[in-house]
Amino acid sequence: MTQWKPICRVDDIPVLGARRVARAQGADVAVFRTAQDKVFALLDRCPHKGGPLSQGLVFGEHVACPLHNWAIGLHDGCAQAPDHGCTPRFSVRVEGGEVYLDAEELQTIAVDDSELQAQALLRRVAA
Ligand code: FES
Repeated sequence: MTQWKPICRVDDIPVLGARRVARAQGADVAVFRTAQDKVFALLDRCPHKGGPLSQGLVFGEHVACPLHNWAIGLHDGCAQAPDHGCTPRFSVRVEGGEVYLDAEELQTIAVDDSELQAQALLRRVAA
């Protein structure tokens, strides 16, 4: 059974913006709010070069990375073609104006974060 962890209220997230949620493991999750008050959560790290997606602008159901303007899908964390790559996404539940994330998923993706760091290191070595 899913254990939903309360994160913040929908109203705490700026419309067409984001709010970062610090995790115990040190990586951040960003929660995004669309114009229609839909809420999504992604790791706050662009799949391109790690830009802080929480500082990008939300348009439709995408966020524009503030570093090089890649459009990242909020529903899947993936870059819009011709760019490619995905950042981890998190399940979100909104109930009574409160935003919840899956506690177990946060733990799992925190473990996977070491893989992301390894990939970033490989990209730097290959560049
Ligand atoms: S780091 Fe996000 S587009 Fe380059």
